[in-house]
Amino acid sequence: MRTARPRHYLMCRPTYFDVVYSINPWMDPGKPVDTALAVAQWEQLRQTYLELGHTVDLIDPVDGLPDMVFAANGATIIDGRALVARFRDAERVAEGPAYRDWLHTNGFTNPTTAEVVNEGEGDYLLVGDLLLAGTGFRSDPRSHDEAQEFFGRPVIGLTLVDPNFYHLDTALTVLDDETIAYYPAAFSPGSQAVLKRLFPDALIATADDARVFGLNATSDGLNVVLPQGAIALAEQLRTRGFRTVGLDLSELLKAGGSVKCCTLELRPAL
Ligand code: ARG
Repeated sequence: MRTARPRHYLMCRPTYFDVVYSINPWMDPGKPVDTALAVAQWEQLRQTYLELGHTVDLIDPVDGLPDMVFAANGATIIDGRALVARFRDAERVAEGPAYRDWLHTNGFTNPTTAEVVNEGEGDYLLVGDLLLAGTGFRSDPRSHDEAQEFFGRPVIGLTLVDPNFYHLDTALTVLDDETIAYYPAAFSPGSQAVLKRLFPDALIATADDARVFGLNATSDGLNVVLPQGAIALAEQLRTRGFRTVGLDLSELLKAGGSVKCCTLELRPAL
């Protein structure tokens, strides 16, 4: 029996969304972006969360920060303690303080900006008591030690090797306190072995699932919200007792983001 636990999410409306620079292989500034469509698709995601009974807070989008819609990157928040992102790329650096200010004004005591590059929940995913941490493209491997000290949780470092899956949340998703799904080829051989050892029952995504960003999903323990193109993964999830909600976030994929990227979980103090 799977049970849903209501979540508290932070999202950012893509009012100023665009692709005007390229910091991952999905971004082609030469391709037109339909910002109104991006907003409509994002509204579907927000609506889905509300219908599932989750709480969704909103941070004001900032003109000139076209990637700010990807709220997952803003911080990692566990037990009400926020480790705020330090972005790798100059184009996104100003998002860090914007997220820090929001957290500060909204009851999170002393949000702390990471010392080294750390792209928040893009690279940090909590599974039960373990914090899985990606590196290879964005978050500095030294940020793993920093996060372990900050949260007092064991951090498991994982190395990403395929530039198409540049954040951990593009290659791995957390389904409940002990279950994950991932795309093995996105990880180094050693990291694949670690995942196999820790999660022998994990769902394994296909290359087709991964290519449509099927792993960029969120789960409340029962309901999994994921890109609608991830057909095989959705089927596997239902076989394992999860309910699936497939959404079209094609405009946001032009920047290399989807469901999870747009969602930052605000985990309350115990
Ligand atoms: N264009 C953004 C970037 O490359 C996309 C971020 C996607 N976010 C995520 N959590 N994977 O930084």
